[in-house]
Amino acid sequence: MSSGNKKLVLLGVSGGIALYKSLEILREFTKKGFDVQVVMTSNAAKFVTPLSFSALSGHSVITDIFSSESGIQHIEIVKKSSLFLCAPATANLAGKLASGIADDALTTIALACTCPKVLVPAMNTNMWLNPIVQKNMEILSKSGYEVLPPVSGSLACGESGPGRMEEPENIISFCLDLLTPAKFFSGKTILITAGRTEEMIDSVRYISNRSSGKMGFAIARQAKAMGARVILIYGRTSLPPPNVDIGISVVSAEEMRNAVLNNFKNADIIIKSAAVSDYRPENVYSGKIKKTDEKINLALIRNPDILKELGRIKNNSQYLTGFAAETGDILNSAKLKLKDKKLDLIIANDISQKSIGFDSDENKITWIDKNNNIKSLPVLSKDRVAQEILKKIAKDLELH
Ligand code: CTP
Repeated sequence: MSSGNKKLVLLGVSGGIALYKSLEILREFTKKGFDVQVVMTSNAAKFVTPLSFSALSGHSVITDIFSSESGIQHIEIVKKSSLFLCAPATANLAGKLASGIADDALTTIALACTCPKVLVPAMNTNMWLNPIVQKNMEILSKSGYEVLPPVSGSLACGESGPGRMEEPENIISFCLDLLTPAKFFSGKTILITAGRTEEMIDSVRYISNRSSGKMGFAIARQAKAMGARVILIYGRTSLPPPNVDIGISVVSAEEMRNAVLNNFKNADIIIKSAAVSDYRPENVYSGKIKKTDEKINLALIRNPDILKELGRIKNNSQYLTGFAAETGDILNSAKLKLKDKKLDLIIANDISQKSIGFDSDENKITWIDKNNNIKSLPVLSKDRVAQEILKKIAKDLELH
C-alpha cells in the first residue's frame, strides 16, 4: 500500500461537516512526501464522495472491510503505517473507539493499529461538553491516542463554543512532530534524571516515593529522537530504560548526586525530573530491624539538594530545568523554586490529582521560565509533554 520508501499515513475520516478540511490535510501530507491511505465511514461518504479522496491520494478509499478488495488487507495496511490520524472524529466514532467496538472498516483498522494514533474531534459544543463524550476522550487519551481537542468558534450548527476541528495546519504540524521529530538537539548533550531515589533504613527497608520514572524516560526518549546525545541517570524503576548514549542506574540521592556531578560538565542542557528524597535515615541499620521495641524513632537528615547545587555551579551557557511536584499554591511554590535554585525553566505539576502526574501515563504541567513566561498545557501523554518541554528549551536556546 505504501509506495517505495514513503511513510504511510492512515487518514480516518468520519461523518462530520468538518471533513471537507480532511481533503486539505490529505493534500498537505502528499505534498510533504507521505503516502496516504484514506479510510472512511459510510456516513462520511455521504458528505464527500470517496472519489475525491482517492483522486488526491492515488489509492482507492477503504470504506468496507468486508469487500473482497479490502478484505484482510487492513492488517497489512496497519502493519505498514507510521501514523493513524482520524480527522474529523465524531462523538459516535470516539464512543466506539473508547469501547473497543469494531463494526466497520475505520473502527476495525483503528483497533488493530499499533503506530502513533491522533484523534481530532469535531462536533457541536454541547456534544463536546457532554460528560460521556469527555469520559470517552479521557479513555482514549489513556489508551494511547493523542487527542487534539476542538477549538472555540462559530460552528456549522449556528452555535458558538468549543467544537470546531483544529485547523489543518496545526494538525499537520502536530503529526509531523510525531512522524519526523526535528533534530533540534544534534550536537548537544542533555543530562536527564528520572525516577525516585530510595534511602535505606535497614538492609531491606527504605524511604521513597511513588515516582515511576515515566516522565523522565519519556524526556530521554524524545530528546534522543530530537538528535541529542543523552545521559540518563535514573533511580529504581520497574520500567525498561530507554535506549540512550549513557545510562546510569542509581539508588540513593547521594549516588544520584555523584553521578550527576560526574557528568554535569559535559551537558549543555540538564533536566532534573527525578523525585529525590529530601531526607534519609541518619543511621542505616545493618541487617533487618527486629520488632522488639514498642516504639522506635527514625532520625532523618537532609539530603543534598542536587538541583540547587547545579544552579550554583552551572556556567552561563548551560540550561537548567527543574521539576516541582506540588500541591496547594502550585505556581507560587514553583516560582520560588525557580529563583532559589537559579533555574532557566521549572515544570510544575499538580500531584494532588491522583489520575495524573506520579505513576501515571499522563501529566498536566505548567512551565515558568526565568523571564516569568508561564504556560499551562492540557492533560497530555508523557511523551507529548516531553516533546513540548523539549521544544520550549530548543526555542529558548534558539535551536528551533
Ligand atoms: N531535587 C534535587 N535534590 C533534592 C530534592 C529535589 O535535585 N534533594 C530536584 C528535583 O529533581 C526537582 C526539583 O528539585 O527537579 C524539585 O523537587 P521537589 O521535591 O518538588 O522540591 P524540593 O526542592 O524538594 O522542595 P519541597 O519538597 O520543599 O517542595
